[in-house]
Amino acid sequence: MQAELDGVLGAGTKRRLPSPDDMGSLPVLRACVDETLRMFPAAPLTNRVALQDDVIDGYNIPAGTVRSLLSLRDGVSRFAFLERFPSCSLRVFTECAAAAQDIFICPGVLHRLPSLWTNPGVFSLDRWLPKPEGAAAGAGEGLAVGSFTYMPFLVGPHGCIGRRFAHLEACTTLAVILQRFSFAPVAGREVRATLRVTQRPNPSLQLMVTPR
Ligand code: HEM
Repeated sequence: MQAELDGVLGAGTKRRLPSPDDMGSLPVLRACVDETLRMFPAAPLTNRVALQDDVIDGYNIPAGTVRSLLSLRDGVSRFAFLERFPSCSLRVFTECAAAAQDIFICPGVLHRLPSLWTNPGVFSLDRWLPKPEGAAAGAGEGLAVGSFTYMPFLVGPHGCIGRRFAHLEACTTLAVILQRFSFAPVAGREVRATLRVTQRPNPSLQLMVTPR
């Protein structure tokens, strides 16, 4: 990524700040942001209320089916439940067909379904780069996915209105930082993702920072 940045924006004293127009020339940088949002979407789940009876992907959704984020006792166990239904690959999951009380939309699950992604547990920039001749399985697949397969900003009328700005901001910030510093993990410090309304690292992320 730093080689790409140096090539496009210049290195050392000759470097310049990135502009929005540079983003088309920085595919690896964009791939890093896209793949991070696939594996660790800031909003791994959200919910909706059904205003009228519906059937989605064979699941009955009665009117009034409610959301209840506050009743979220254990996000992990609910994720485990959802993962038992890999065939429910579209956009809405019911927590329990019989009780049918919650409608969850779960990018955090969707983004890791083996039926949709090759080796979904592996962080791979190649998913987001054009597939070269003879590339490994999964290369370029992110470029071909539909908006109901990859939705870190959600979709529909209440999808994120700041998505373009947020993506540009993430790419620009990352570019400026990586132009100046290199990062390495702190040995022995295990960091996992945790759910606190949004998904975040736990314990907090610590990195070794080296000026370039
Ligand atoms: C990486 C950064 C961001 C991520 C991952 C993100 C993600 C999301 C998601 C998933 C939703 C839908 C939530 C739901 O419906 O349950 C949402 C809604 C929203 N986002 Fe973002 N967002 C980001 C940054 C921003 C920024 C920078 C802005 C403003 C400039 C913004 C403004 C909004 C607004 C206003 C809504 C509510 C839209 C509505 O309900 O009609 N977001 N965002």
